[in-house]
Formats: sequence, structure tokens, C-alpha cells
Amino acid sequence: MAFNITLFIGGTETTQALAILAMDTFIKYPEIQKHLIANPQDIPKALNEVLRFRSPIMSMPRIAKQDFEFKGNLIKKNDLVNLWIGSANHDPAVFPNPDSFDINRDNSKLITFGYGIHYCIGSVLAKLEMRILFEVIFQHMKDIRLQPGTVLKRIPSTVVYCYQELPVIFNRI
Ligand code: HEM
Repeated sequence: MAFNITLFIGGTETTQALAILAMDTFIKYPEIQKHLIANPQDIPKALNEVLRFRSPIMSMPRIAKQDFEFKGNLIKKNDLVNLWIGSANHDPAVFPNPDSFDINRDNSKLITFGYGIHYCIGSVLAKLEMRILFEVIFQHMKDIRLQPGTVLKRIPSTVVYCYQELPVIFNRI
């Protein structure tokens, strides 16, 4: 039962957040939106960059199994440690010029889906869902932009990074 709950929650809010963050990013970068409409084969690498740039799961907690020192800070056994995935995905030592959105960068080291034994079981499914979603969207919609007057509100969470809603307007292709 516990695993079913993890699977259900892990498979719904995350992809919903990614869809909203990807759409918001393609609105903020209209030249990329135009490029993807003309070159749908680049949708997967653009989505990979959204996974790095916006990190739908911002953080994951762990409990320390033993005392250890990390960059001059003592972490004690049983301390709760919050690992900031979104921050690691913007580490300039790993991703040069991390605050620029570059669909051609090497994203082989992104940790959006975690790391090690608990690596996301649904990562391939999430990428497949998003590729199909944006292939269909970009077959029918262009000049996608925010509805004028919209004030984006984040959902109140330090784990999931997403907006409560993203009202858009567009022209039909
Ligand atoms: C953009 C979409 C997604 C993101 C960003 C995401 C992110 C993550 C992250 C960061 C972890 C690691 C948790 C940890 O280390 O404690 C994880 C684990 C997990 N994810 Fe995802 N996930 C996504 C989509 C999905 C989907 C579509 C499913 C299922 C259909 C899923 C099911 C799971 C499950 C069951 C785990 C636990 C794996 C384990 O503990 O061994 N996720 N996910």
C-alpha cells in the first residue's frame, strides 16, 4: 500500500508541475517556442533543459545515518538534511552559465530525478508523456502567451515547484 501511494503521488503532481513549468518556460522564451514548432525533433532536449532549469521537485529530505562533516558544517546522526535539487541543477561547476536556458547543453548530470538506489522509477514515462503532450500542443497552437493581467501564484510547497494555474491564450496553427 505504501508503495502504491508513493507511485500514485510520484506519478501525478510531478508531471503536472513539469507540464506547467515547461509551458511557462516556452512562453518566457518565445524564440524557443517558435523553434520547437518548426523543429519538433528538438522537443525532448528542450524538455530535458526544462527539467534542469526549473526542477519540478526542488528538494528531497534525508536523515543522516551517522555524524559527518560537509563543507565545514557538522551534520549529526539523525539530523534531517534537506537536499536542494533545484540548486544542484544550477551548480556552475557542473552546468556552465547555469541561469541561461540552453536546449543544446549537456544535461547528462542533472539530478532532477534523484540519484542512486531511489532514482525515479517513472523518469522515462514522465519524459514520454511530456514529449507527446508538447508534440500535440505545437501541432495546433502557436504564439502561446500568458493571459494578460495574470499574476502567477506558486503552490505552497518547498518540494514541488509549480504554479496554481497557468491561463494562456494562443493562435491556432
Ligand atoms: C517530472 C516528473 C518527475 C519528477 C521530477 C520526479 C522526481 C523524483 C525524484 C527526485 C525521486 C527521488 C526521491 C528520493 O530520492 O527520495 C523520485 C522517485 C520516485 N518517483 Fe518520480 N518523478 C517524476 C515522475 C514520476 C512518475 C511519472 C512516476 C510514476 C509513474 C514516479 C514515481 C516515482 C517513485 C515510485 C519513486 C520512488 C523510487 C524509490 O524510492 O525507489 N515519478 N521521483
